[in-house]
Amino acid sequence: MDSTLTFLGLESSCDDTAAAIVRAGPGGAEILSSVVAGQTELHAAFGGVVPEIAARAHAEKLDLCVEEALAQSGLGLGDLDGIAVTAGPGLIGGVMSGVMCAKGIAAGSGLPLIGVNHLAGHALTPRLTDALSYPYLMLLVSGGHCQFLIARGPEAFTRLGGTIDDAPGEAFDKTAKLLGLPQPGGPAVEAEAAAGDPRVFAFPRPLLDRPGCDMSFSGLKTALLRARDAAVAEHGGLPRGLRADLCAGFQAAVCDVLVEKSRRALRLYMAEAPSRPAFAVAGGVAANRVLRAALETLSADFGAEFVAPPLRLCTDNAAMIAWAGIERFRMGARDGMDLSARPRWPLDQTAPALLGSGKKGAKA
Ligand code: KG4
Ligand code: ZN
Repeated sequence: MDSTLTFLGLESSCDDTAAAIVRAGPGGAEILSSVVAGQTELHAAFGGVVPEIAARAHAEKLDLCVEEALAQSGLGLGDLDGIAVTAGPGLIGGVMSGVMCAKGIAAGSGLPLIGVNHLAGHALTPRLTDALSYPYLMLLVSGGHCQFLIARGPEAFTRLGGTIDDAPGEAFDKTAKLLGLPQPGGPAVEAEAAAGDPRVFAFPRPLLDRPGCDMSFSGLKTALLRARDAAVAEHGGLPRGLRADLCAGFQAAVCDVLVEKSRRALRLYMAEAPSRPAFAVAGGVAANRVLRAALETLSADFGAEFVAPPLRLCTDNAAMIAWAGIERFRMGARDGMDLSARPRWPLDQTAPALLGSGKKGAKA
């Protein structure tokens, strides 16, 4: 039986500074505290995350977040068994801020230091929340990321496919922008789509005619732009009903692609005859109710358990980093003061490079 371990996790790879305390024992894992300080307002005027501003804000906020996470858990450094920190992939200045902070705490306290791949943090979250056993199938789908992985161990992932261009969240955000809806676009487009008819506009289903699990979403955005312009030209503006139809058509196309590619990924995964088959989704786009319902039905067709961790654990947080650190620690992994920050760090080092395979886009 695994002994009980309590870890501090640190996350600073994009625009969220986060610290969390996770305790894992034979009976399961518990998040004792999880503090996330966002930077949205710092970057709002620039239309995207400014790396230098992000790095400076992380450096200012990290120790405050650590103090807050410790205070909320009622623990001191002496109660911990280790420190896990995101060591990549991500915006290098932010990752360096986190790694330096973790090294400082480790050096001062004598606690073991564990570097964690940010994407592994996302991919291992279903084990923290639902105690899934390896191997399980995972769809990471966010604003900067989209890939299918078979998780086989804390450091063993097989990528079955991913987007060759935009991530779906990015496509939702751009669609919202083109239709005058607020950001983040996903929830706004989903709400608008609820009143629309997905059959009014015929959007393409990119790459469905090709075998495999790779996906493409940038063509959908162009198709939406053309459909919008044609509707505006015909009606002298965009009637509310047509805007809803555009959203519904776009959402249906994204869901169809994700569902069909998930079916293929599930076929490959189920062929391995896993003892406790499970399909987990994570990332902001997994909040989409239409997509979630479709993936749940699909999983049931395959006899696989469907797992969607709560949204606060699907988006960037440090509890997932603490958990991934515990998993690596249990495998015997230890890092030293030479731990370096890595801007790129693909989860499956053997898979051919794809956009989003090991690099964080807007956010991963
Ligand atoms: O995981 P996340 O919070 O940050 C990234 O790592 O990107 O995901 C944010 C993305 C945004 O692009 C947002 O539009 C999308 O997730 N999103 C949604 C929904 N809620 C958030 N997309 C579709 N439907 C939703 N309900
Ligand atoms: Zn992330």
